[in-house]
Amino acid sequence: MTLEADLREAVGDRQVLVDPSVTASYETDWTRRFTGRARCVVRPADTREVTAVLQICARHGVAVVTQGGNTGLVGGGVPTDGEVVLSTSRLSQVGPVDTVSGQVTLGAGVTVTAIQQAVRPLGLDFGVDFAARDSATIGGLVSTNAGGERVLRYGGTRQQVVGLEAVLADGSVLSRLHALPKDNTGYDLAGLLTGSEGTLAVITAVRVRLWPLLTHRTVALLALDSTTAALAALAALKARLGSLEAAELFLADGLALVMRQTGLPAPVPGHHAAYLLVECADRVDPGDAMLDVLEEVGALVPGLDDIVMGEDARSRESLWRYREAHTESINAVGVPVKLDVAVPHAHLERALRELPALVAEVAPGARTIIFGHLHEGNLHVNVLPGEGLPASDDHAVTDVVLRYVASLDGSISAEHGVGRAKTAWLGLSRSPAEIAAMRSVKAALDPGQLLNPGVIFRADTGTTPAVHA
Ligand code: MLT
Ligand code: ZN
Repeated sequence: MTLEADLREAVGDRQVLVDPSVTASYETDWTRRFTGRARCVVRPADTREVTAVLQICARHGVAVVTQGGNTGLVGGGVPTDGEVVLSTSRLSQVGPVDTVSGQVTLGAGVTVTAIQQAVRPLGLDFGVDFAARDSATIGGLVSTNAGGERVLRYGGTRQQVVGLEAVLADGSVLSRLHALPKDNTGYDLAGLLTGSEGTLAVITAVRVRLWPLLTHRTVALLALDSTTAALAALAALKARLGSLEAAELFLADGLALVMRQTGLPAPVPGHHAAYLLVECADRVDPGDAMLDVLEEVGALVPGLDDIVMGEDARSRESLWRYREAHTESINAVGVPVKLDVAVPHAHLERALRELPALVAEVAPGARTIIFGHLHEGNLHVNVLPGEGLPASDDHAVTDVVLRYVASLDGSISAEHGVGRAKTAWLGLSRSPAEIAAMRSVKAALDPGQLLNPGVIFRADTGTTPAVHA
């Protein structure tokens, strides 16, 4: 029997997609930068079917790329040439919410929005949130150890995972979905699979910790004359506001692009180099406390030019839109090279000043739009070709940015993962010993290199790329 026939027998005819007009949306990522060809797309309904799919693919020697909401930004969820795409879209079950332990078990295909809708009516909330919430799935969040806009308060996805279920390449099922808040019996396999980008197993379900739902929120947008002023404001706010939940940075050129693409008016009058969007959340209205603190901070921090507050849901949302619309506005004007990096706060101002010039050396005329999560020093460096100019040389742009970031003791991937995009540069952020240990884990769990080959490590060689700074 052919691979497709075996898969149809396992999951049903309608769940094996081969028509190119249907598979196309699974073959290209949402930036349009990563595109490939799938042998077929298969949509298993449960863990038993995932096991069957993996065993069939192993028998036929065909590699598998797992895909959730296809919102990844490093090419880790799209095929290259002839892999089976395993879509988690039908693993969409939300289990009963345990309000005592504050936990819930979710199928890998449950979106962030669906988690919020399930737990908020019970007075609980999920700790990770970001603009792609309607499509991004919990399986994808765990695979990439996604960050988002609330890391400052709740940590990243890793901090939310209490247990998970996953299927290894040979079909064996690892299941740690019990509700025990403490469990020290041996290796933390859930921790190992978190951030493994689909290279070690297919995650089928995740048990996450939940937080008290904070019912009152206030947002403020601070306009500043420099990133140094933004950092000083953040430090002052963190010291004074226990309810601080988000601190997001964007710059004048990013704001101008967002305003052009969305038609939004300027949030504050005048030109400002940097904007810091902060949100406080509490069970009582944090607005007055925030206002008092902002007045204090305004007197303390030179360069804090202006502040606009958003207290009701509509004004909060419109302030968030200036930040969250960055990704779609960038995608709307071209296919960007997206580089997600982190630099120590001490080097942030310098990095923001020097990065555009460094990029311009290898991509003349390119536009470098940078925004990100200030608390983590996490910069999203987006390089767009200049108007009328050919697409920039991805490799040259990536190389110059990542080497520069490594020279500042930064990370070449703060939250999006390594994917296919950064395999050649892994050695800038990880030592040869670390890479060798990671390769040993990969070889032990997926000896046939069936799961996401070419993601995190180059598929073709057993050696470490020689790109040390
Ligand atoms: C964000 O922070 O908005 C996301 O990481 C997406 C992006 O970098 O474009
Ligand atoms: Zn981000």
